[in-house]
Amino acid sequence: MQYQDPSFSATLVAWQKQHGRHDLPWQNTRDAYLVWLSEIMLQQTQVSAVLGYYARFLERFPTLASLAAAPVEDVMAQWAGLGYYTRARNLHKCAQRVVAEYGGVFPADPARLAELPGIGRSTAAAIAAFSAGRRAAIMDGNVKRVFARVFGIDTYPGERKTEEAMWARAEALAPAEGIEAYTQGLMDMGATLCTRSSPSCERCPMAPRCVAFATGRTAELPVRKPKKATPEKAAHMLLVVDRGQVLLEQRPASGIWGGLLSLPELAGHTALAAPAEPPGDATVAAAVQPFGTMESLERLLPVLHIFTHYKLHIHPLLVTLSSRAALAGEQRYAWLDAAAIPGAALPAPIKKLLLDLLGERSQARMF
Ligand code: ADE
Repeated sequence: MQYQDPSFSATLVAWQKQHGRHDLPWQNTRDAYLVWLSEIMLQQTQVSAVLGYYARFLERFPTLASLAAAPVEDVMAQWAGLGYYTRARNLHKCAQRVVAEYGGVFPADPARLAELPGIGRSTAAAIAAFSAGRRAAIMDGNVKRVFARVFGIDTYPGERKTEEAMWARAEALAPAEGIEAYTQGLMDMGATLCTRSSPSCERCPMAPRCVAFATGRTAELPVRKPKKATPEKAAHMLLVVDRGQVLLEQRPASGIWGGLLSLPELAGHTALAAPAEPPGDATVAAAVQPFGTMESLERLLPVLHIFTHYKLHIHPLLVTLSSRAALAGEQRYAWLDAAAIPGAALPAPIKKLLLDLLGERSQARMF
């Protein structure tokens, strides 16, 4: 196979034997129940968080048969606090399937293991390697990081093609001899040396063959998930000014700027890609009508505001009134004195917009 390289596994096995972890409670056993339980607990969870749960779980369920026979509520209770509770439900289902279908003995074949609830391809390989010495390849986030760096893989590992290529490498590199130390070595390297930030390359046995180390790219590899373009939205906002006051509206309690006073919006935030028709004079006059009679309308230059999840193009519609209507029962609306703007609880871009306008227009006696 194209990726075969016996020296990679030999280097890793030698390092694991000398520098790897040897005393974790699920090591030094071939009991598939103990190995399986640890691998499920260690999915998405660090060793330090698993240790206590692992010991307590085994006290309560010392054998596969005892776990399979227990009510699922008891299993959930033992799992409480560990997170990702689907794992506990699947664990229970898996125990019952192994009892029913395999007489309580886990199969050694990774393909059979991967058919069981909660056991994916990588977990199946780890169980088969640790409990039966089967030559099988694991591929988790740690292994992806090690491979991306050592082999200089500079495409995103979450991409299907890259992941497939990594699996092909992993399958080819897995040694026939010493699969336990090799598999543990990959995990140990990823967890202790080839860490996401500040990897310990000076102690790493792979440094002499590591593409990322040789080219100074450990910080860039693995390539991070490509960012989606930030969506852009637009909103037309009424800036109704009258006799030194500006009309404000309290925003709904939930959503952006929840509960703050802001400018009344003509429509909600609409996608910029499919812009609604810009409001015509009659539309604006109709929107303003509950507050008074529109005298003049000026479309100000849009202002861009950047939220975490989208960019908002604010289109201010500056309106003056020829006469003001009473705010009959309109609790959400209020007229604010220009002098009170600096101290008001307004969203930052709205406050800036108003202050800029105030600065520009006060001489023109518009505000
Ligand atoms: N993460 C997943 N499996 C592990 C194991 N067997 N030892 C340490 N960390 C792990």
